[in-house]
Amino acid sequence: MAFELPELPYSKDALAPYMSAETLEFHHDKHHNAYVTTGNKLIEGTGLEGKPLEEIVKESYKSNDKLFNQVGQHFNHIHFWKWMKPNGGGRSLPGALQSKIDSDLGGFDKFREDFLAAGAGQFGSGWAWLAFKDGKLEVTKTPNGENPLVHGGVPLLGVDVWEHSYYIDYRNARPKYLEAWFDNLVNWDYVGELFEGASK
Ligand SMILES: [Fe+2]
Repeated sequence: MAFELPELPYSKDALAPYMSAETLEFHHDKHHNAYVTTGNKLIEGTGLEGKPLEEIVKESYKSNDKLFNQVGQHFNHIHFWKWMKPNGGGRSLPGALQSKIDSDLGGFDKFREDFLAAGAGQFGSGWAWLAFKDGKLEVTKTPNGENPLVHGGVPLLGVDVWEHSYYIDYRNARPKYLEAWFDNLVNWDYVGELFEGASK
């Protein structure tokens, strides 16, 4: 089956003022759509057609840089839309996830600080992550379309620090975008679901 652009799980103005309708229009309708259409062109004849997306991401990372850039970003953005919701953020995390953050990452405040620092410290385009790997949570950052999947982990939360994610609303103030995103948009229920699936 060909890659398809998923619908946003909320209306384009639902994340304002932290992320504007204009940003979502460009980011979803143009950027994510381009990853989908280019990915569909580049996968033809590779033998990976029809495989599960996670498998295509991992395989192409090893063998096909051009395809990987598109499918990695397709995977990342499918989740990115779900990692946000109107009236998100806050500190009421699902219990099991909160306990694991306490034991592995030194508590919520330390985790928040490290996650924001990873996003601010990623030089150029990329992502900051909360990932589950070898039974533990970790905070990481990756360049371009890379994600924890290709490093043996499971992505639980990721923030897009490509300029297309914040330049319209925050100009060059990436740290301001990261704080607003983390404190007001994160869908912790979805992060909790992914954690449950990964830690089974
Ligand atoms: Fe993006």
